[in-house]
Amino acid sequence: MLITVQHHILQQQEDLFPEARGNFSSLLSGMTLATKMIQAKIRRAGLVDILGAAGETNVQGEAQQKLDVYANQAVLHCLGARESVAMMVSEENAQPITLDRSETGKYIIVFDPLDGSSNIDVNVSVGTIFSILRRPDGVHGEAAVLQPGWKQVAAGYVLYGSSTIFVYTAGHGVFGFTLEPEIGAFVLTFPNMKMPAQGAMYSVNEANVDTFPDSCRAYLSRLRERGYSSRYIGSLVADFHRTLLKGGVFLYPPTKKNPQGKLRLLYEANPLAFVAEQAGGQAIAGGSRIMDIEPRSIHERTPLIIGSKVEVGEYYEMQKG
Ligand code: AHG
Ligand code: MN
Ligand code: MN
Repeated sequence: MLITVQHHILQQQEDLFPEARGNFSSLLSGMTLATKMIQAKIRRAGLVDILGAAGETNVQGEAQQKLDVYANQAVLHCLGARESVAMMVSEENAQPITLDRSETGKYIIVFDPLDGSSNIDVNVSVGTIFSILRRPDGVHGEAAVLQPGWKQVAAGYVLYGSSTIFVYTAGHGVFGFTLEPEIGAFVLTFPNMKMPAQGAMYSVNEANVDTFPDSCRAYLSRLRERGYSSRYIGSLVADFHRTLLKGGVFLYPPTKKNPQGKLRLLYEANPLAFVAEQAGGQAIAGGSRIMDIEPRSIHERTPLIIGSKVEVGEYYEMQKG
C-alpha cells in the first residue's frame, strides 16, 4: 500500500497526539508544500533565473543566494498562513517573524530554508531543515524561541538530491518519504529508520584540521589508523543523511575561524540531533549533549559531532582528556 506523508502524519497524530486536533498535521503539510515548491525551483536551476547571488548578506554575514531568498519566502508563505503557527524563525531573518496569532498560535517553527546553498550553482545536493516547538505561555518575543532541543515537538529535513527525500520525527521514530514526481506526493520509503551503531566513514572539512582542538585531531588520526574513509559534501543535510543511512560520524568542531563552531544550534544542530537520537545515534557539542544546551540567542552557533553511537561516544571520551 502507498502511504503518503499526509496519511502518515494523520495516523501518528491520531495514535500519539489525540489532543493535536489537526493542527500538527496541517503544519507539517505546510512544510511539505513549501519544500515541493523549493524542489520544483531547484529542478529548473539553470533554466530559470535562480542561480547566483541575490546581492544581499544575511544576518550571518553570508552572501544570500537567489535560491536562499526564494526558499525562505516559500516557507514563510506556506506556514505563515497556518492557524496554529505563532512565530517563525529563519536563518535568513535577523528577528523572529511574529504573526497576529503570536499570543494564540500553538507552535513556533524554526528553519534553515536552504542548507548548503553555496553548492547550488554546481549541481550538488542541498536541503531544508526545520524544528517545531510549542509556544510557551507567558513568554514573549525571542525569549519564547530560546528552548533547549529536548523540547522539540517534531523536526526533520528535506534533501534535494538525486531524488527529493523528506525525513521527520515527532519523537516516536524516524520516517523517510520520497517525492514521487508523477503524482507530486511524498511516499513512505524508509519506515522506522535506524542509524547503524557504527560506521566506516567520517565527514569533516579537513582543510581546517590545523585549528581543530588537539583531542579532535587525535580522534581523527585514530579513525584513520583503523581504516576509516572520508566523505564531505559541504551540505550539512546531505552529509547527515548519508551518516544516518550508513553510520559513522559528521563533525564541525570549533576552529580558529569559528571558535564556537559554525553551525547554528536552533535550526541546524537541534533538529538533526533529534532525528539522530530517534534513530539510535547521538549528537554532542563536545562535552555536552546538543539537545541539553540552553540557547541564549536565536542565531547562536555550536560545535556539532553527530552520528553513530560508537563514534560519537568515543569522541566524547577523548575530549574529556
Ligand atoms: P547554509 O548554506 O545554510 O549557510 O549552511 C552551510 C553550512 C552547512 O550546510 C555545511 O555543513 C557547512 O556550512 C559547510 O561549511 P564549510 O564550508 O566551512 O565546511
Ligand atoms: Mn545551513
Ligand atoms: Mn541556509
